Amino acid sequence: MRIGVVGAGTMGSGIAQVAAFHGHQVYLQDAQTEALERGLGRVRKSLERVAARKEGAEAEGLVEQTLSRLTSGVELEPLGESELVVEAVFENFEVKKSIFETLDGLCPPAAILASNTSSISITRLAAATGRSERVIGMHFMNPVPVMKLVEVIRGVATSDACFEATRDLALDLGKTPVEVNDFPGFVSNRVLLPMLNEAMFAVMEGVAKPEAVDQVMKLGMNHPMGPLQLADFIGLDVCLDILNVLYEGFKDPKYRPCPLLRQLVDAGRLGRKSGHGFYRYE
Ligand code: 3HC
Repeated sequence: MRIGVVGAGTMGSGIAQVAAFHGHQVYLQDAQTEALERGLGRVRKSLERVAARKEGAEAEGLVEQTLSRLTSGVELEPLGESELVVEAVFENFEVKKSIFETLDGLCPPAAILASNTSSISITRLAAATGRSERVIGMHFMNPVPVMKLVEVIRGVATSDACFEATRDLALDLGKTPVEVNDFPGFVSNRVLLPMLNEAMFAVMEGVAKPEAVDQVMKLGMNHPMGPLQLADFIGLDVCLDILNVLYEGFKDPKYRPCPLLRQLVDAGRLGRKSGHGFYRYE
């Protein structure tokens, strides 16, 4: 399949990598050359990790063969050759809406337009296009090459044929698709973010230090990462955006973002990517 990916950040580059690895022809687009360079660097490094776990013939050529199926550029036009495009830019409705309008004009009528959004309404994005039945959510988890889940989100108008094609692609990428409907935060972030938020309240109220909260959840509940470590990994700005979508979407105070989270984001402490969040990073 010819697959387009818009946005070469952590998620976009991960999606492009997995698609190229599984034999698809991928065009990765980003408006910024530096973002593309960083994204392709991440793909190479990640593929080298994948290759290091394999042996003999399987490992040989894995990196170069995968990269040979991956082209990239700042131009939007090559996306018009895609059978399916996954949009993976940052969480801003107006930006995503404008990308969907552009893609709708560029791509053949039969192409599927998918969004990797973590919480923005698929139905609203679909309404920006003239093909709402072929717009869908394809929500990958970070790190994309490792995590098995893809939440496949049906907008109000998404057709069965579009859902089935997207589900089949997720299976082809070695993922496990799970069907969900279009409500704020879908399932993953509606369940995950309140837990991360509660952990932040516990720190803010002095119940325990971040290390202690994380240890409780890692050792007591067998989570691979504690909630504050995970929030830093996701990005504190992304966590705040998602909580705001939940809070606005349901108008329920239980989704109120923790003031400590707001404060850290205001201070530019965005987690791992900025070198400082609840923890410091080299
Ligand atoms: N590319 C390729 N392989 C990778 C990789 C990458 N980017 N990152 C890790 N790996 C591989 C490693 O090579 C290793 O493979 P092996 O077991 O065969 O040797 C395996 O994954 C485990 O990696 P590490 O040993 O380096 O580290 P850990 O065992 O600590 O695992 C982790 C790292 C997989 C990130 C684990 O800590 C984890 O599962 N954390 C939770 C992640 C999570 O919850 N993600 C979801 C976030 S929410 C989200 O994405 C939704 C969004 O909308 C907010």
